[in-house]
Amino acid sequence: MHIVKATRSSICLLIVAIWAITATAAETEDIIKYRQGVMTSISGHMAAVSQIVRGKVDYADDLMYHAESIDRSMQTVESLFPKDTDFGETRALDAIWSQADKFKKVSDEAKAATSAFRDTVKANDKAALVAKFKTVVDSCKACHKDFREQKDQ
Ligand code: HEC
Repeated sequence: MHIVKATRSSICLLIVAIWAITATAAETEDIIKYRQGVMTSISGHMAAVSQIVRGKVDYADDLMYHAESIDRSMQTVESLFPKDTDFGETRALDAIWSQADKFKKVSDEAKAATSAFRDTVKANDKAALVAKFKTVVDSCKACHKDFREQKDQ
């Protein structure tokens, strides 16, 4: 009797443990997919802006919504990297958490760069536009260089 009871409760515990592990794994995977989606959407707006600022297309009226979208997404950048989301299908490097101060610094610089770009668009300051856009591009590169795994050659 006792043995049966003990076995039953162990099985229950085992099921709960497996559920907990798979639940955590699924959540991490979903967070990774979410952040890659946000990054990809930023990148799409950047590609569109690049076409406009280089004078390739005549969509200047759309510049503001691209600049706002980039900035609003970038303001969330640190929240995209909760602790322990560096395993699975991700290129996020452990340095994000092990060098948290440095990661915060590049995040803050990127946030400032996208806000400055948005303000420049808002002020219709055409002279500063290209330089401010370049600062945003550089801020993406600065973070990717130290905190994103390089692609295999
Ligand atoms: C503070 C750090 C940081 C900043 C700033 C940043 N990124 Fe990223 N980005 C990352 C990391 C880390 C990854 C890898 C995420 C992963 O694979 O989980 C990534 C991934 C990406 C990806 C690939 C998404 C995918 O589907 O795998 C693109 C595209 C991208 N970033 C574009 C940009 C652009 C454009 C900017 C600038 C406007 C930018 N990023 C700014 C850290 C940053």
